Order: sequence, then structure tokens, then C-alpha cells
Amino acid sequence: MADEMKRVAVLVSGGGTNLQALIDAGKRSDTPHAELAFVVSSRADAGAINRAGRAGIPVVVLARADYETSDAYDAALYAQLGENRVDVVVLAGFLPIVGPRVLSAYPRRIINIHPSLVPRHCGKGMYGLRVHESVLASGDRVTGATVHLVSDVTDGGEVLMRREVQVLPGDTPKTLQRRVMEQAEWKLLPEALEKLCSGAYEEESACETTY
Ligand code: GRF
Repeated sequence: MADEMKRVAVLVSGGGTNLQALIDAGKRSDTPHAELAFVVSSRADAGAINRAGRAGIPVVVLARADYETSDAYDAALYAQLGENRVDVVVLAGFLPIVGPRVLSAYPRRIINIHPSLVPRHCGKGMYGLRVHESVLASGDRVTGATVHLVSDVTDGGEVLMRREVQVLPGDTPKTLQRRVMEQAEWKLLPEALEKLCSGAYEEESACETTY
């Protein structure tokens, strides 16, 4: 990607604290190559919608339940991204599966944040507090968050960035979730987005080429 600003769509389903981290990073000029162009929410009642509204970012609600098939949902999302001239897509707590039409339209341009150190505690059904319950049940002393490219395997795309967080004695799923957000997710996501939008990942992979 060239050195201009990329138009970014943030896809959400929940409270939107990661969206907020992106908004705040933008205000601090930490993400000069990323313009938060619009937000897609899969739920009409997502807290993230108010956060977008306060920041003056347009929101489209695309409720999965309004579409009969996953293919129809994929087509609707594809159309919205196209109409809004989106370059880069961020999944920030977005629960619907991203379909093949959208995936193939944005190769290496869709990222997701997952609240564990992928490949630990991820994959189908691993979201929300379940991730942190799984970490505590496993006895892992270190967890964290991961930003990865989105592929057709849930949480299975190439890892771009990870950040570690300590699991502390007495942690509950909720205390651990909060620490992972504060110490990892909210820092990692803006950092990874800026790197992607500035083309830094392309340069890195170019340097890895051996002849
Ligand atoms: C975060 O934990 C994120 O890692 C996961 O879903 C949660 C979304 O939280 N994918 P929020 O809506 O950004 O507050």
C-alpha cells in the first residue's frame, strides 16, 4: 500500500472498547495512516455504536438475523465496504463469520484482535469470557492478546503482533479480561493497524525474501 491514509472500517458487536482505543489513538496522532471511515455493527444495541457516534464516525447496522444465509450476509457486508471505499477492515469484537466474498476482496487487509496468545485459547466458540476461563482452567501463568490477519480458519490467519500479560493468583475471568484489555489489546490494536496501513508489514515480508 502507498503512503497515504487508508480508509478503515471497524466491525463491532459489543461494548466497543477496542474501537475506543482506535478513536483515542487517532486523536493522539498515533495512527497517521489510518482514517476511521465507518463502523459496521452486527447488533443494533451494541455499546460501540454510541462510541462511534460521539466520535462522529458513521455507523451501519448489519444484523446477522436480518439475513437468511451467511452468503447473503457476506454480500451485504461486501456492498457496504465497497460503497464506503474501504481499504482496510478491523474486526474489533465482531461475532459473525466473515465470508469468502469479503475475504477475497481484502487480501491481507483484514485484521482481528483476539484476547489470548494465539494459538492458545482460540478458535470456534472461544470468545468473550470463555477465553479467560480457558486460560485459568489451563493453569497458564502468561496470557495476552494477538492481532492476526483474518483467513477462513477462525483465529487461524497469520499472526502480526502479540503482547503478553501475567495471570495473577486470585484472577477471575473478569479481572483477567480487564487486564488483558488494558495492558495488551488497547495498545496492540492501534499499533498493528498503523503498521498495516503504513505498509510496514509489506516491507517486512519483502525483506524476508531470500534469493
Ligand atoms: C475483545 O476482548 C476482543 O479481543 C475480542 O472481543 C472483545 C471485544 O471487546 N475479539 P470490545 O467490544 O472491543 O470492548
